Amino acid sequence: MIITLVGGGSTFTPGIVKSIALRREELDVTEVRLFDIDKERQDKVAVVVDWLLHEDLKCDIKLTVTTDPETAYTDAAFIFAQMRVGKYAMREKDEKIPLRHGCVGQETCGCGGMAYGMRTIFPMMQVIDDAEKYAKPDHWILNYSNPASIVSEACRRLRPNARIINICDMPIAIIDMVAAAMGIKNKKEIVYDYYGLNHFGWFTSIKHNGKEILPALREYIMEHEILLPDTYMKDKAALAANTSKGNRHAKGSWYYVWKGVYEIMQNFPDTLPNTYLNYYLQQKEFVEHSDPNHTRANEVMETREKNLFEGIDRYLETGKIEENVFYAGSHGDWIADLAVALKNDTKTRFLVITENRGALPNIPYDAMVEVPAYVGKDGPEVIAQNTIPLFQQGLMMQQLNCEKLLVEGCIEGSYEKVLQAFTLNKTVPSMKVAKEVLDDMIEANKDFWPELK
Ligand code: NAD
Ligand code: G6P
Ligand code: MN
Repeated sequence: MIITLVGGGSTFTPGIVKSIALRREELDVTEVRLFDIDKERQDKVAVVVDWLLHEDLKCDIKLTVTTDPETAYTDAAFIFAQMRVGKYAMREKDEKIPLRHGCVGQETCGCGGMAYGMRTIFPMMQVIDDAEKYAKPDHWILNYSNPASIVSEACRRLRPNARIINICDMPIAIIDMVAAAMGIKNKKEIVYDYYGLNHFGWFTSIKHNGKEILPALREYIMEHEILLPDTYMKDKAALAANTSKGNRHAKGSWYYVWKGVYEIMQNFPDTLPNTYLNYYLQQKEFVEHSDPNHTRANEVMETREKNLFEGIDRYLETGKIEENVFYAGSHGDWIADLAVALKNDTKTRFLVITENRGALPNIPYDAMVEVPAYVGKDGPEVIAQNTIPLFQQGLMMQQLNCEKLLVEGCIEGSYEKVLQAFTLNKTVPSMKVAKEVLDDMIEANKDFWPELK
């Protein structure tokens, strides 16, 4: 059984491979392949992957590292995609260009997310086509490549029969925090209901061994004025230093979105919002506390990326690898567990991004939504949710139509549709500002975007 990682040079690759290797019996995996278009970066990351598989975990799993699609995909059963098209250099522009115009600058939300989406749509179709051509006929592509919402809408439009499941690790990272806050050791005992679009959703119920814990969680958040549990908050020095130790979602500027969960719940206490809703509901405040010259892209380059590549260099010099050189945890576990469910037909409950088809009654049938589903060998079987209240449904419709217009505009090469998408986004205050940001984005993305006419 072969698993191919697309974006083999990602900072998340070692962590994902670790999660795969820890499930090697259930997955029956014989080979892991890394595929990337950046050979130099991937070859470096492969050094630590090789160490992890063959020295640390002493697995009998073959490692293949390639930049050739045929070598990468042939007979693969699973393709885990995690490309960052344009890499951190373009993430930095996604975040900084909107901020220069007074708009939210974020990797996956607002103008930055739309720019990243327009870079990623066609490379993602290439992954689907290469998998179709070379991989096993019943392969599954599990996609983390962002912005997952826009990517999933493009998949639905352009490759409706692709064997792809788009996923996100944010809800599971939130559940990690909930478990820590509530003192729950085994997070597998937690079952939740959730609805939304990717990076745009709400938990409506969180149960621990069948008991609803949302009211207790709300009390916790109100008392602590943040969702980050004490165990994280106590380590103030580590938080400030933004080191690679511990949970990466608690570091650096992530702090504000956990604080934001509290701020949102002060006004709208019924549901637990996804951290990403802050970019849409507190857009002005986000811009105010952002440094337009130093954004999350810089934090990541200075911590997760630097730590990994310096750690690899030190290993090559000294033969020693220190703990925490690479990030591992829920992110890798989530995608590897999903592969286990598909392979072994376990019907385990996951949150997935999928075509609505009536799961959310007052959202269009063809919307790509994020909802819970039981996952077995034939893919997700979605669990229907209740009618969405007007406030959340209104927000979702605005964001949904924005993303649909963006994808249409990108496919058709339509400047007008893309400008409508930018204008419709809740993070953008006016049509004039939308046009200014879009025109700067066109210039910055000229090596990546289709031409807009
Ligand atoms: P990274 O820049 O370290 O790694 C991305 C890799 O993708 C790079 O090595 C790059 O060369 C490669 N790449 C770019 N274009 C490619 C292409 N066309 N084909 C093959 N490889 C290509 O980035 P990272 O921070 O490790 O993140 C990796 C990806 O995972 C990003 O898309 C990020 O947004 C995503 N991510 C998603 C979630 C989620 O919840 N869905 C969570 C974490 C990360
Ligand atoms: C969360 C989101 C991802 C996003 C990531 C960014 O995990 O679910 O979609 O890519 O955060 O994290 P970073 O540490 O790179 O800012
Ligand atoms: Mn995500």
